[in-house]
Amino acid sequence: MTAKDDIVIIDVPTRERASLGWILEESFEGWYLLHSKKTLRDIEVVRAAMSSGKPVGLVMLKTLEGSTGYVYYIAVAKAHRKRGIAKLLLEDALRRFRVSRMKEVFASVEKNNRPSEALFASEGFAPTSFSEVSKRRGNLHTLNMYREMLVVPGEVLLRKAMA
Ligand SMILES: CC(C)(COP(=O)(O)OP(=O)(O)OC[C@H]1O[C@@H](n2cnc3c(N)ncnc32)[C@H](O)[C@@H]1OP(=O)(O)O)[C@@H](O)C(=O)NCCC(=O)NCCS
Repeated sequence: MTAKDDIVIIDVPTRERASLGWILEESFEGWYLLHSKKTLRDIEVVRAAMSSGKPVGLVMLKTLEGSTGYVYYIAVAKAHRKRGIAKLLLEDALRRFRVSRMKEVFASVEKNNRPSEALFASEGFAPTSFSEVSKRRGNLHTLNMYREMLVVPGEVLLRKAMA
């Protein structure tokens, strides 16, 4: 049996999300930590990976403009990393986005964050850019989307088509 075998992924309603704050504290620093905590409270969907009834990882998801999915934050508790838990969370997110007929899914990661680059690449995400996205959606549209996604300098935008 691998560590993944006992993982169950569940929805976490707003009133129960404070119990996940420690995973963010282990995973982010500075501005990202503050912003991830605020997002945890406000965002549409939070899914948690549960191991023996305890949360060990989470992903925050959002829909942009009806047909675009966005993976806001994904984090796994330090003691549970490198066992495929983030991959399970991302696969679960992509399944949900597919069921709700999203045409594409974005995520932004810090440049040189090897673990998260490897994670998203393993699920078929590839780097894209403002100019590439705006060719398809137009400048204004893309600018609004970037604002909503909160892509900041030092981050790379990743995209996966859901055809
Ligand atoms: C990024 C993070 C979520 C990965 O969680 P995880 O459960 O350890 O990842 P997984 O075990 O599911 O690994 C998924 C893939 O990434 C690769 N990977 C994971 N950690 C890695 C590391 N430290 N170095 C290189 N590759 C790594 C795995 O090999 C795997 O690829 P594969 O399926 O091709 O073998 C975790 O490191 C984390 O919480 N980091 C802090 C928060 C963060 O940076 N979040 C991402 C931006 S929002």
